[in-house]
Amino acid sequence: MKAVIPAAGLGTRFLPATKSQPKEMLPVYDKPAIQYVIEEALASGIDDILIVTGRNKRSIEDHFDKSYELEYTLQKAGKDRVLKQVRNVTNLADICYVRQKDLKGLGDAILCAERHIGDEPFAVLLGDSITKSPQLCTKQLIDVFNKYGKSAISIREVPCDKICSYGIVEADKVEGNVYKINSLIEKPKINQISSNLAIVGRYILTPDIFDKINQTEPGFNGEIQLTDALSKLDGVYGVKFDGKVFNIENRLEWIKSSIDFAMSDEEFCDDLIDYMKRFL
Ligand code: UTP
Repeated sequence: MKAVIPAAGLGTRFLPATKSQPKEMLPVYDKPAIQYVIEEALASGIDDILIVTGRNKRSIEDHFDKSYELEYTLQKAGKDRVLKQVRNVTNLADICYVRQKDLKGLGDAILCAERHIGDEPFAVLLGDSITKSPQLCTKQLIDVFNKYGKSAISIREVPCDKICSYGIVEADKVEGNVYKINSLIEKPKINQISSNLAIVGRYILTPDIFDKINQTEPGFNGEIQLTDALSKLDGVYGVKFDGKVFNIENRLEWIKSSIDFAMSDEEFCDDLIDYMKRFL
């Protein structure tokens, strides 16, 4: 299966950090956010990755490219451990890139992938959204897609007063953590939908989504919304995700994600706790 990682957005909620630096490249603890996303795709069995980028996003390509000068310098200095880490990033995956010329929304970003994807089901992982769980979010979706043969998206409960920040779905439970989705609305008003199940940023989509996006008028914020196109598909399943989700879209989420990953590093967490005790 191929994966599409949309990463062309301007990241206006995280200015000025994102003025010349893609938010997908902001470091979360010790690596850029988008590297976690690619690692999730690879660990889920996906080996063909297309990143949708845009102007001012060249550092994404540079990060996954070979860096001769850096490797040479590290090698000469005998810094073998770091050299290995640098080479691992370069060899992580075969990545293709396509540019979204006008930022017309997530639906439009997915449309940029049509030629690369062809007539096959594919995964979408948002480039600014990191998941953390024992069972990989994308792998769970692939399993549900394989069982039901329909598009599958990851969902989770969010506080009811926060639904206007998410794509929200109404769904009925089918079995375990699997739901059949009845309706979807992008960033609804509080009384517009009686559900607090939010879309997480991981999808397995059947290729008929491209036609549906083409038929979709601009929606919330004047953008072509993937959520609106999804609501035109014949049958979509939701898979409830019980891990952690970090949307690197604003300062608070970004700091939380860095602390979380730092706390998972045994070499480092005690020092971090000592430091944080001064504030608590
Ligand atoms: P967001 O809506 O969170 O990203 O899209 P944004 O537009 O950069 O954010 P703000 O509102 O300006 O702060 C989720 C993901 O989809 C990509 C983004 O790069 C992000 O990774 N995206 C969004 C695109 O690739 N193209 C778009 O037109 C919109």
